[in-house]
Amino acid sequence: MSGKKVTVLDIRDAKKEGRPLVMVTAYDYPFGLMADEAGVDIVLVGDSLGMVVMGLDGTVEVTMENMIHHIRAVMRGCKGPLVVGDMPFMSYNTSVRDAIINAGRLMKEGGCDVVKLEGGVDFAPTVAAIVKAGIPVQGHIGLTPQTASALGGFKMQGKDVAAARAIIDDARALEDAGVFSIILEAVPAPLGKLVAEAVEVPVIGIGAGPDVDGQVLVTHDMVGLFDKFVPKFVKQYTQIRPIILEALAEYKKEVRERAFPAPEHSFKMPDETLAELKKAIDS
Ligand code: KIV
Repeated sequence: MSGKKVTVLDIRDAKKEGRPLVMVTAYDYPFGLMADEAGVDIVLVGDSLGMVVMGLDGTVEVTMENMIHHIRAVMRGCKGPLVVGDMPFMSYNTSVRDAIINAGRLMKEGGCDVVKLEGGVDFAPTVAAIVKAGIPVQGHIGLTPQTASALGGFKMQGKDVAAARAIIDDARALEDAGVFSIILEAVPAPLGKLVAEAVEVPVIGIGAGPDVDGQVLVTHDMVGLFDKFVPKFVKQYTQIRPIILEALAEYKKEVRERAFPAPEHSFKMPDETLAELKKAIDS
Protein backbone atom coordinates (compact mmCIF):
# COMPACT_ATOMS: atom_id res chain seq x y z
CA MET A 1 0.00 0.00 0.00
CA SER A 2 2.66 2.63 -0.86
CA GLY A 3 2.14 5.77 -2.91
CA LYS A 4 -1.38 6.92 -2.06
CA LYS A 5 -2.64 7.69 1.44
CA VAL A 6 -3.89 4.59 3.26
CA THR A 7 -7.42 4.97 4.65
CA VAL A 8 -9.46 3.06 7.23
CA LEU A 9 -11.41 1.55 4.33
CA ASP A 10 -8.16 0.14 2.87
CA ILE A 11 -7.45 -1.41 6.28
CA ARG A 12 -10.88 -3.05 6.47
CA ASP A 13 -10.59 -4.25 2.85
CA ALA A 14 -7.20 -5.88 3.54
CA LYS A 15 -8.87 -8.52 5.71
CA LYS A 16 -11.53 -9.26 3.09
CA GLU A 17 -8.77 -9.61 0.47
CA GLY A 18 -6.58 -11.78 2.73
CA ARG A 19 -3.71 -9.24 2.63
CA PRO A 20 -1.69 -9.19 5.90
CA LEU A 21 -1.33 -5.67 7.31
CA VAL A 22 2.10 -4.27 8.19
CA MET A 23 2.22 -1.85 11.12
CA VAL A 24 5.16 -0.32 13.02
CA THR A 25 5.65 2.42 15.59
CA ALA A 26 7.40 5.75 15.02
CA TYR A 27 7.97 8.65 17.41
CA ASP A 28 9.85 11.25 15.35
CA TYR A 29 10.41 12.67 11.85
CA PRO A 30 13.25 10.34 10.68
CA PHE A 31 11.43 7.16 11.66
CA GLY A 32 8.15 8.52 10.24
CA LEU A 33 9.96 9.17 6.97
CA MET A 34 11.57 5.69 6.92
CA ALA A 35 8.26 3.93 7.68
CA ASP A 36 6.73 5.92 4.83
CA GLU A 37 9.57 4.99 2.45
CA ALA A 38 9.29 1.33 3.46
CA GLY A 39 5.62 1.44 2.42
CA VAL A 40 4.09 0.05 5.61
CA ASP A 41 0.30 0.28 5.92
CA ILE A 42 -0.04 1.76 9.40
CA VAL A 43 2.26 3.81 11.65
CA LEU A 44 1.45 3.97 15.34
CA VAL A 45 2.75 6.84 17.44
CA GLY A 46 2.49 4.61 20.48
CA ASP A 47 2.69 5.57 24.12
CA SER A 48 5.53 3.01 24.16
CA LEU A 49 7.50 6.20 23.53
CA GLY A 50 7.51 6.50 27.32
CA MET A 51 9.78 3.46 27.51
CA VAL A 52 11.79 3.44 24.28
CA VAL A 53 12.28 7.20 23.83
CA MET A 54 11.74 8.84 27.24
CA GLY A 55 13.43 6.15 29.36
CA LEU A 56 10.46 5.60 31.69
CA ASP A 57 9.64 2.22 33.23
CA GLY A 58 6.18 2.07 31.62
CA THR A 59 3.59 4.07 29.70
CA VAL A 60 1.55 5.45 32.61
CA GLU A 61 3.42 8.77 32.87
CA VAL A 62 3.04 9.66 29.18
CA THR A 63 0.93 12.83 28.77
CA MET A 64 -1.31 14.26 26.05
CA GLU A 65 1.34 16.92 25.44
CA ASN A 66 4.04 14.23 24.93
CA MET A 67 1.78 12.45 22.43
CA ILE A 68 0.86 15.60 20.48
CA HIS A 69 4.53 16.66 20.26
CA HIS A 70 5.62 13.28 18.85
CA ILE A 71 2.60 12.83 16.54
CA ARG A 72 3.35 16.23 14.95
CA ALA A 73 6.95 15.19 14.27
CA VAL A 74 5.93 11.84 12.74
CA MET A 75 3.26 13.48 10.56
CA ARG A 76 5.89 15.70 8.92
CA GLY A 77 7.62 12.61 7.49
CA CYS A 78 4.80 10.12 7.15
CA LYS A 79 2.55 10.90 4.19
CA GLY A 80 1.35 7.51 2.88
CA PRO A 81 0.63 5.23 5.85
CA LEU A 82 -2.43 5.63 8.07
CA VAL A 83 -1.11 7.28 11.26
CA VAL A 84 -2.59 6.20 14.59
CA GLY A 85 -2.24 8.42 17.67
CA ASP A 86 -2.24 6.48 20.94
CA MET A 87 -4.46 7.87 23.71
CA PRO A 88 -2.35 8.02 26.89
CA PHE A 89 -3.42 6.63 30.26
CA MET A 90 -6.22 8.68 31.90
CA SER A 91 -6.95 10.65 28.72
CA TYR A 92 -10.06 8.50 28.08
CA ASN A 93 -10.62 6.68 31.39
CA THR A 94 -12.20 9.53 33.39
CA SER A 95 -15.32 10.16 31.29
CA VAL A 96 -16.72 9.76 27.79
CA ARG A 97 -16.60 13.57 27.43
CA ASP A 98 -12.87 13.65 28.28
CA ALA A 99 -12.29 10.80 25.84
CA ILE A 100 -13.94 12.67 22.94
CA ILE A 101 -12.13 15.92 23.78
CA ASN A 102 -8.73 14.20 24.00
CA ALA A 103 -9.25 12.07 20.88
CA GLY A 104 -10.12 15.32 19.09
CA ARG A 105 -6.96 17.00 20.42
CA LEU A 106 -4.74 14.20 19.06
CA MET A 107 -6.27 14.73 15.62
CA LYS A 108 -6.57 18.55 15.64
CA GLU A 109 -3.29 19.41 17.41
CA GLY A 110 -1.24 16.34 16.48
CA GLY A 111 -2.62 15.78 13.00
CA CYS A 112 -2.97 11.97 13.17
CA ASP A 113 -5.61 10.18 11.10
CA VAL A 114 -7.16 7.97 13.80
CA VAL A 115 -6.74 7.16 17.50
CA LYS A 116 -6.14 3.99 19.51
CA LEU A 117 -7.14 3.18 23.07
CA GLU A 118 -6.72 0.20 25.38
CA GLY A 119 -9.65 -1.80 26.74
CA GLY A 120 -12.46 -4.15 25.72
CA VAL A 121 -16.03 -4.60 26.95
CA ASP A 122 -15.68 -1.89 29.64
CA PHE A 123 -14.54 0.70 27.11
CA ALA A 124 -16.98 -0.16 24.33
CA PRO A 125 -19.34 2.75 25.21
CA THR A 126 -16.36 5.15 25.14
CA VAL A 127 -15.24 3.81 21.76
CA ALA A 128 -18.79 4.12 20.39
CA ALA A 129 -18.99 7.76 21.51
CA ILE A 130 -15.64 8.68 19.92
CA VAL A 131 -16.62 6.94 16.68
CA LYS A 132 -19.97 8.78 16.74
CA ALA A 133 -18.05 12.03 17.06
CA GLY A 134 -16.41 11.21 13.72
CA ILE A 135 -13.06 9.88 14.91
CA PRO A 136 -12.02 6.39 13.76
CA VAL A 137 -10.81 4.21 16.64
CA GLN A 138 -8.46 1.24 16.80
CA GLY A 139 -8.97 -1.03 19.83
CA HIS A 140 -6.21 -2.69 21.89
CA ILE A 141 -6.90 -5.84 23.94
CA GLY A 142 -5.03 -8.78 25.47
CA LEU A 143 -2.03 -7.33 27.30
CA THR A 144 -2.84 -3.66 27.79
CA PRO A 145 0.42 -2.02 28.98
CA GLN A 146 -1.27 1.02 30.59
CA THR A 147 -2.96 -1.31 33.09
CA ALA A 148 -0.08 -3.80 33.33
CA SER A 149 0.09 -3.40 37.10
CA ALA A 150 -3.58 -4.44 37.42
CA LEU A 151 -2.83 -7.43 35.16
CA GLY A 152 0.12 -8.48 37.34
CA GLY A 153 2.85 -7.21 35.01
CA PHE A 154 3.78 -7.49 31.33
CA LYS A 155 2.50 -11.06 31.02
CA MET A 156 0.82 -13.22 28.41
CA GLN A 157 -2.99 -12.95 28.68
CA GLY A 158 -5.84 -15.39 27.97
CA LYS A 159 -4.22 -18.42 29.62
CA ASP A 160 -7.35 -20.22 30.84
CA VAL A 161 -10.73 -20.73 29.20
CA ALA A 162 -12.45 -17.90 31.09
CA ALA A 163 -9.68 -15.39 30.36
CA ALA A 164 -9.49 -16.43 26.69
CA ARG A 165 -13.27 -16.23 26.35
CA ALA A 166 -13.22 -12.73 27.88
CA ILE A 167 -10.74 -11.58 25.23
CA ILE A 168 -13.03 -12.85 22.44
CA ASP A 169 -15.92 -10.98 24.13
CA ASP A 170 -13.73 -7.85 24.22
CA ALA A 171 -13.06 -8.12 20.48
CA ARG A 172 -16.77 -8.55 19.69
CA ALA A 173 -17.77 -5.63 21.93
CA LEU A 174 -15.20 -3.38 20.23
CA GLU A 175 -16.39 -4.44 16.80
CA ASP A 176 -20.00 -3.63 17.80
CA ALA A 177 -18.79 -0.26 19.11
CA GLY A 178 -17.40 0.55 15.64
CA VAL A 179 -13.60 0.10 15.75
CA PHE A 180 -11.96 -0.24 12.32
CA SER A 181 -9.34 -2.68 13.64
CA ILE A 182 -8.04 -4.22 16.84
CA ILE A 183 -4.53 -4.65 18.27
CA LEU A 184 -4.21 -7.97 20.10
CA GLU A 185 -1.17 -8.19 22.37
CA ALA A 186 0.55 -11.16 24.05
CA VAL A 187 -1.90 -14.04 23.84
CA PRO A 188 -1.37 -17.70 22.87
CA ALA A 189 -1.22 -18.14 19.07
CA PRO A 190 -4.34 -20.38 18.90
CA LEU A 191 -6.32 -17.69 20.73
CA GLY A 192 -5.03 -15.09 18.24
CA LYS A 193 -6.53 -17.19 15.44
CA LEU A 194 -9.87 -17.54 17.26
CA VAL A 195 -10.09 -13.79 17.91
CA ALA A 196 -9.34 -13.01 14.24
CA GLU A 197 -12.07 -15.47 13.22
CA ALA A 198 -14.56 -14.01 15.70
CA VAL A 199 -14.68 -10.53 14.16
CA GLU A 200 -14.81 -9.04 10.66
CA VAL A 201 -12.48 -6.10 11.40
CA PRO A 202 -8.74 -6.79 11.04
CA VAL A 203 -6.99 -8.09 14.15
CA ILE A 204 -3.35 -6.93 14.19
CA GLY A 205 -1.19 -9.01 16.46
CA ILE A 206 1.84 -8.28 18.61
CA GLY A 207 2.73 -11.56 20.24
CA ALA A 208 -0.56 -13.10 19.03
CA GLY A 209 0.90 -15.64 16.60
CA PRO A 210 0.80 -15.83 12.80
CA ASP A 211 -2.91 -16.47 12.21
CA VAL A 212 -4.15 -12.92 12.63
CA ASP A 213 -4.75 -10.24 9.98
CA GLY A 214 -1.47 -8.34 10.36
CA GLN A 215 1.47 -7.68 12.65
CA VAL A 216 2.75 -4.70 14.60
CA LEU A 217 6.15 -4.28 16.25
CA VAL A 218 7.78 -1.45 18.18
CA THR A 219 10.41 -0.21 15.73
CA HIS A 220 13.03 0.49 18.41
CA ASP A 221 12.70 -3.19 19.46
CA MET A 222 12.92 -4.65 15.95
CA VAL A 223 16.01 -2.65 14.94
CA GLY A 224 17.80 -3.27 18.25
CA LEU A 225 17.82 0.40 19.29
CA PHE A 226 16.14 -0.40 22.61
CA ASP A 227 17.37 -3.58 24.26
CA LYS A 228 16.84 -2.92 27.97
CA PHE A 229 13.96 -5.40 27.76
CA VAL A 230 13.23 -7.56 24.68
CA PRO A 231 9.84 -9.31 24.82
CA LYS A 232 9.65 -12.93 23.56
CA PHE A 233 7.51 -11.88 20.59
CA VAL A 234 10.07 -9.42 19.23
CA LYS A 235 12.29 -10.36 16.31
CA GLN A 236 15.36 -8.12 16.02
CA TYR A 237 15.74 -7.67 12.26
CA THR A 238 18.96 -5.74 12.79
CA GLN A 239 21.11 -4.38 15.62
CA ILE A 240 21.74 -0.68 15.15
CA ARG A 241 22.81 0.12 18.72
CA PRO A 242 26.33 -1.40 18.30
CA ILE A 243 26.73 0.46 14.98
CA ILE A 244 25.89 3.80 16.63
CA LEU A 245 28.16 3.02 19.61
CA GLU A 246 31.04 2.25 17.23
CA ALA A 247 30.53 5.56 15.41
CA LEU A 248 30.46 7.48 18.72
CA ALA A 249 33.68 5.78 19.90
CA GLU A 250 35.44 6.59 16.61
CA TYR A 251 34.28 10.24 16.78
CA LYS A 252 35.50 10.55 20.37
CA LYS A 253 38.90 9.11 19.42
CA GLU A 254 39.29 11.43 16.40
CA VAL A 255 38.33 14.54 18.38
CA ARG A 256 40.81 13.67 21.13
CA GLU A 257 43.54 13.07 18.49
CA ARG A 258 42.58 16.22 16.56
CA ALA A 259 41.97 14.02 13.49
CA PHE A 260 38.47 15.47 13.14
CA PRO A 261 37.55 17.79 11.52
CA ALA A 262 39.70 17.10 8.46
CA PRO A 263 40.21 19.79 5.73
CA GLU A 264 37.16 18.52 3.82
CA HIS A 265 34.97 19.26 6.85
CA SER A 266 36.36 22.80 7.33
CA PHE A 267 35.47 26.13 5.69
CA LYS A 268 38.29 27.89 3.81
CA MET A 269 39.39 31.55 3.97
CA PRO A 270 41.39 33.14 1.12
CA ASP A 271 45.07 33.76 2.10
CA GLU A 272 44.74 37.54 1.41
CA THR A 273 41.71 37.82 3.70
CA LEU A 274 43.57 35.99 6.44
CA ALA A 275 46.68 38.17 6.04
CA GLU A 276 44.53 41.36 6.15
CA LEU A 277 42.67 40.08 9.20
CA LYS A 278 45.91 39.34 11.07
CA LYS A 279 47.21 42.84 10.21
CA ALA A 280 43.93 44.35 11.49
CA ILE A 281 44.18 42.39 14.75
CA ASP A 282 47.80 43.49 15.31
CA SER A 283 47.16 47.17 14.63
O1 KIV B 1 2.35 1.90 22.37
C1 KIV B 1 2.60 0.99 21.57
O2 KIV B 1 3.66 0.94 20.93
C2 KIV B 1 1.61 -0.05 21.39
C3 KIV B 1 2.04 -1.28 20.65
C4 KIV B 1 2.65 -2.21 21.61
C5 KIV B 1 0.93 -1.88 19.88
O3 KIV B 1 0.52 0.06 21.87
